[in-house]
Amino acid sequence: MGFYLGLMSGTSMDAIGSHGQTLRHCPDLPTPFTWQIGDPNTLTELTGITVVADFRRRDVAAGGQGAPLLPIFHDQVFRSDDEDRVIANLGGIANVTVLRRGTTVTGFDTGPANRLLDAWISLHQGKDFDAGGAWAGTGQCDDTLLEQLMAEPYLSVSPPKSTGRELFNMPWLNSRLGLNSRRPQDVQATLQQFTAATVAAAVHRHAPGAAVYVCGGGARNAGLLDALGRLVAPKPVATTAALGLDPDYVEAVAFAWFARRTLGGLTSSAGSVTGADGARILGGVYRYA
Ligand SMILES: Nc1ncnc2c1ncn2[C@@H]1O[C@H](COP(=O)(O)OP(=O)(O)O)[C@@H](O)[C@H]1O
Ligand SMILES: [Mg+2]
Repeated sequence: MGFYLGLMSGTSMDAIGSHGQTLRHCPDLPTPFTWQIGDPNTLTELTGITVVADFRRRDVAAGGQGAPLLPIFHDQVFRSDDEDRVIANLGGIANVTVLRRGTTVTGFDTGPANRLLDAWISLHQGKDFDAGGAWAGTGQCDDTLLEQLMAEPYLSVSPPKSTGRELFNMPWLNSRLGLNSRRPQDVQATLQQFTAATVAAAVHRHAPGAAVYVCGGGARNAGLLDALGRLVAPKPVATTAALGLDPDYVEAVAFAWFARRTLGGLTSSAGSVTGADGARILGGVYRYA
């Protein structure tokens, strides 16, 4: 969950929808909370524009996970009468939205998308991310390690569920790596396969035969998309560009849409996704004037 600004634009800008930066996401503690920074008061002062922010905490207060938020937006823009679809948002964490014909939208976090890939390449190559999955492509997936990663209990918890860096982090990975020596590029290849396998497992379990569309930064990782494609074949994997929305812009547009809903007094969460008691009007409004 990174930093998104949804800008509602026309000839003039009415409002900014600001997600902020998630520092902690702990919806399953006895006192659940989720914490985003990026002060909307400051943003309002800096821009002279009304800001809508703090989109997750109302859902948590209503008994939900506060995540993922995107499925209800995906439902609005990507649902089809012609095919079942899964939208996979490949950010730090991966979340899927299940759009099966004749059923209410559901969605959940499947596990890490890029977080561990980024952490591992940063450690061994000093790079922020593995562009195109090129480095992973020089390695071999280690099936024993993959099996250990896939044994993570979170993966078999039934939705609603969400996760974050509190679980999927370097200590988590190190405890699975143990003392075995492996080539770093093989670990990268295994982590890439792990992301693909956890997303594919969600498709097979919740929407078998659905067409898969990806968005988020991971949509730029050709190696990851190939791996996912092999696992969901014969169904192809495409990006949301095929549905008319650039994969880099899906979250920004979503938060503009959330802001508009909030300003219109409309709900933009779904208990079917987050497990909350019901739909809620999300976020706080910081009016400029
Ligand atoms: N060209 C690329 N090749 C591989 N991965 C990429 C590329 N561009 C971005 N990414 C990955 O996408 C991530 C950012 O995705 P994003 O959807 O913005 O995440 P979040 O919303 O969780 O902050 C980066 O950390 C990186 O791992
Ligand atoms: Mg994201």
